[in-house]
Amino acid sequence: MKADYNNDVKNILLTADDISKIVNRLGDTISKEYEGKPLLLVGLLKGSVLFVSDLMRAVKIPCEIDFMDVSSYGSGTVSSGVVNIIKDINNSIDGKHVLIVEDILESGRTLRTVVDMLKGRNPASVKVCTLLDKPEGRKVEFEADYVGTVIPDEFVIGYGLDYDECYRNLPFVGVLKPSVYENN
Ligand code: PRP
Repeated sequence: MKADYNNDVKNILLTADDISKIVNRLGDTISKEYEGKPLLLVGLLKGSVLFVSDLMRAVKIPCEIDFMDVSSYGSGTVSSGVVNIIKDINNSIDGKHVLIVEDILESGRTLRTVVDMLKGRNPASVKVCTLLDKPEGRKVEFEADYVGTVIPDEFVIGYGLDYDECYRNLPFVGVLKPSVYENN
């Protein structure tokens, strides 16, 4: 167990205040675009847990919430390339407007897999809202419908994002010092 996370952070990319402004903007947009439609927010665990809990409060229209647990990174900083569905959503999405809520879009493999899977279940629509988009990490073609902000090609942690399951509870998004993972 680490004694102090803050020594491991190279620089802060998004402060808690930056995140709050982004979440409110996304919440306003989503509230307008889905007004009068049966909306289901699907958070992808574990990384999106803080984002989805803040975003659902910024969405001012009625909506349902569900979760999938999806993982591909294991304990390293590079995607394994294999997307594991650890937990599926509980209910039918037939006729619903599904909005997948993700913390970060990087290689695109996670969202490609989940979107293709959910589109096969007769929803009214499937779209994606990601807090962070790292286009330089893309390995498969994928574009999100709603993007909080684009980030550079660095390994980021905090606000739900982890390295080896640590740092998720930091209230900001920061760049991890390479020295933390280079020797592992
Ligand atoms: C991370 C992140 C996204 C995904 C993005 O999840 O939370 O879900 O990777 O990467 P990609 O675009 O390259 O697929 P991870 O597999 O680390 O699981 P976690 O959410 O439980 O941390």
